[in-house]
Amino acid sequence: MTQTTTTRQHLAKKMASRACLAAAVAASSRGGVSAFGTSSIGRSGMMARSLSTISSNNRFSSYPSTTSTSYAINNSELSNRISSVAPSRSFQLNMSTVAAGATTARRVKTAEAEVSEEQVSIKGWVRTVRKQKTLAFVEVNDGSNMSGIQCVLPFDTVDEDTMKEIDNLTTGCSVHAIGQIIKSQGGKQAVELSASSLRIVGECPGDTFPLAKKRHSLEYLRTIAHLRPRTNTIAAVARVRSTLAGSIHKFFQGEGFNYVQTPLITASDCEGAGEMFRVTTLDIDDVASLPRAKDDEGKELAGVDYAEDFFGKAAFLTVSGQLGGETHACALGDVYTFGPTFRAENSQTTRHLAEFWMVEPEMAFADLTSAMDNAEAMLKACVGDVIEKCDEDLEFFGKFFDKGLKARLDKVVSKPFVRCEYRDAIKYLQEEIAKDPSKWQFPDVEFGTDLATEHERWLAETKFDSAVFVYNYPKSIKAFYMRDNDEDGGETVNAMDLLVPGVGELVGGSQREERMDVLVEKMKELDLDVEDYWWYLDLRRFGSVPHAGYGLGFERLVTYVCGIENIRDAIAFPRYPGNAEF
Ligand code: 4AD
Ligand code: MG
Repeated sequence: MTQTTTTRQHLAKKMASRACLAAAVAASSRGGVSAFGTSSIGRSGMMARSLSTISSNNRFSSYPSTTSTSYAINNSELSNRISSVAPSRSFQLNMSTVAAGATTARRVKTAEAEVSEEQVSIKGWVRTVRKQKTLAFVEVNDGSNMSGIQCVLPFDTVDEDTMKEIDNLTTGCSVHAIGQIIKSQGGKQAVELSASSLRIVGECPGDTFPLAKKRHSLEYLRTIAHLRPRTNTIAAVARVRSTLAGSIHKFFQGEGFNYVQTPLITASDCEGAGEMFRVTTLDIDDVASLPRAKDDEGKELAGVDYAEDFFGKAAFLTVSGQLGGETHACALGDVYTFGPTFRAENSQTTRHLAEFWMVEPEMAFADLTSAMDNAEAMLKACVGDVIEKCDEDLEFFGKFFDKGLKARLDKVVSKPFVRCEYRDAIKYLQEEIAKDPSKWQFPDVEFGTDLATEHERWLAETKFDSAVFVYNYPKSIKAFYMRDNDEDGGETVNAMDLLVPGVGELVGGSQREERMDVLVEKMKELDLDVEDYWWYLDLRRFGSVPHAGYGLGFERLVTYVCGIENIRDAIAFPRYPGNAEF
């Protein structure tokens, strides 16, 4: 495992000869065979992309700084009408024509807009413009909530420059409006901005703006993922996602868990499924230059010698932070990770991403029941937070995506989750399938079957109409680190999956095998190289404790809480086979 000096020197020379680190990640797909042979961990086909040009060119340097909130309004009339306030978040008007008494108007987010005497400033993007004879209505959305704010611009009171701007207003323009928040004179909103001035900050040509029309399919929006946060749906998903992320941290911190950050680049395959993306700096565009593995007699083999790669060994993007999490649980007691994970499984489904975020708590001196209890409490707390904080967004999702959403979420919070042994789940499924096997895509279900989504969804949606923990799975379909159930003739492991209506598996977890001899035996059975996991085994060697944990798929949670169908809409820039745009 130790690199030789010559290899290091060779590497250093190679690195220096490049402008900067060229990282290449190779995607492996199930059954795909590498041009360079089969790796010890994954079967990879390779592709490489140099990142050397990214650093120098800051495309955004010419944009107005987001931290500076000033822009020029050269209008003396305006300044006289704006009263001076001492704001917590001020907007400094830059009025070169105004000498003394230049004024500020406090910037208000539309979500917090309240009736007041004060002159405030609203900044956002125009959704709609309606011009009438004597006034114009401009709906502005700043992303803080769904409804935004209606700005009313009476032609007889706004300044002259505003009149010119009104003529150029289109959907998508960014604007800055100043005025007073008043009780709405009509319409669906409680308040509106009675504007005295409005300026276009950035124009938006209606003929080329992809969101000029009101309704677009989610499929179309995925093709413009860089602009789709400006739609009601994707902005609402983003707000719910952010709320959930905050709630997750709040929950674990409140329970005394320490947040640990585990590495994204790893040499270990936690799930043992060989679904890892390779990380390499070898120049795979130049196949002839690749260092070849050699046998003991120095004869070249088909595979690549990764001892000469950047890390001195084959490296991959992690599929889970669990193994690293265990190291810290076995010192700090209760910990959690919350970070991106990567899987090179060739799944074009509505539930799979190649890059997704996972929440992974790990608890020392804990068993499977503690893991289930913790997962249930965590979900109840997080969903409760969203119900409390994202009312408007949930109402929207209930109206347009999932009529029963609110009732379903209320139930998550108020009712205990069902717990059902795997053997019983199989029995229930067999009984149901026997009624009409033709209704099922996978009608053959027996002990040892890895449940398909249709099975999981039937259990959660029809059989139990509830979130349900299925536990004590067959050893043959679960990962090496799960603790054997001795009392079950060695057939099952202390593992659980939480299945929820609409999604299927949301959480996967287990009690970990803390007994050194049993773990080593299991690893050997699965053909894992025990030496590669020396540090993981040390946790069992030195002060081993029963411990347990689980992984929650964050995008699956977002999908579930928003009542949307496709996981590709639950993350800003979805990565899946054939797609890494944006
Ligand atoms: O069940 P999984 O594979 O479990 C683990 O990775 C464990 N190491 C976790 C642990 O015990 N610390 O994955 C956990 C969850 C799944 O239940 C699912 O919600 C989600 O991660 N998940 C995915 N989400 C999106 N796309 C994929 N390709 C996913 N694969 C798993
Ligand atoms: Mg799983």
